[in-house]
Amino acid sequence: MNKIYPRKGDTQTVYLNAVVKDPSIEIGDYTIYNDFVSDPCLFEQNNVLYHYPINHERLIIGKFCSIACGAKFLFNCANHTLKSLSTYTFPLFYEDWELDKADVASAWDNKGDIVIGNDVWIGYEAVIMAGVHIGDGAIVGTRAVVTKDVPPYTIVGGIPAKEIRKRFNPDIINRMQALKWWNWPVDKIRELMPYLKDGRWDKL
Ligand SMILES: CC(C)(COP(=O)(O)OP(=O)(O)OC[C@H]1O[C@@H](n2cnc3c(N)ncnc32)[C@H](O)[C@@H]1OP(=O)(O)O)[C@@H](O)C(=O)NCCC(=O)NCCS
Repeated sequence: MNKIYPRKGDTQTVYLNAVVKDPSIEIGDYTIYNDFVSDPCLFEQNNVLYHYPINHERLIIGKFCSIACGAKFLFNCANHTLKSLSTYTFPLFYEDWELDKADVASAWDNKGDIVIGNDVWIGYEAVIMAGVHIGDGAIVGTRAVVTKDVPPYTIVGGIPAKEIRKRFNPDIINRMQALKWWNWPVDKIRELMPYLKDGRWDKL
C-alpha cells in the first residue's frame, strides 16, 4: 500500500507495509500499527528487535492485523545460546578471544521466523518471541509474552502467554477459517464488512 496514514490528522497510526523497508519483513495490506510514544514509522527500529541480517530470519505479518503501541518482536540474536556452559557471548567478541569471525552466529540459538496470521490483534506492549507462529484471528492480550504458537481464533494472555479462551465456538471458527475473508477482493470486503463488523457469520 502507498498510503501511510489511514486516518486524516492521525499520525500515530500507520499502514505498516507503507513504512517498512526491510525486505526480510513482510506485512499484509491494511495491517496497522499505532504508537503514541514514538513515531510509528520507526516500527522496524523500535519494535523488531535483535533482528540482524546474519540470521536470515523473517517477520511475516498477515493482512488486517492490529498491532498496539509498544508491541515487540524479539528475534534470535536475543537468545544467548544455552548449548554453551556460559551465557557470555564469546563468539560475538571474536577479536578479543581470537575466534573465527565466521562462527559469530554460534553466540545465539536460532529459533526461526516469527509468523503472524491475518486479522490478528496484538495488545499493548506484548512481546512475541522468535520462532512463534500466531494463527489467523488470534488475540494477544496486553503485556503478554508469547513463547509458543497460538492457534487460530484463540485469545492468549500472561507471562508466558496461555490460552484465555477461544473467540468463537468451533463451528464459527471453522467457518471463518474456510472463508479467509481477508483474501477477498476489496469490493467484496466493503460489501460484506457490515456483517463482519456485526458478528453476522450466518450472512457470510
Ligand atoms: C486479552 C483480552 C482481549 C481479554 O478480553 P476479555 O475476554 O474481554 O477479558 P476478561 O476481562 O473477560 O478476562 C478474561 C480472563 O482473562 C484474564 N486477562 C484479561 N486480559 C489479560 C491480559 N492482558 N493478560 C493476562 N490475563 C488477562 C482475566 O484476568 C480473566 O481471567 P479469569 O478468567 O481467570 O478471571 C483483553 O483483556 C486485552 O488484553 N486486550 C488488549 C487491550 C490492548 O492492549 N489494547 C491496545 C490498543 S489496540
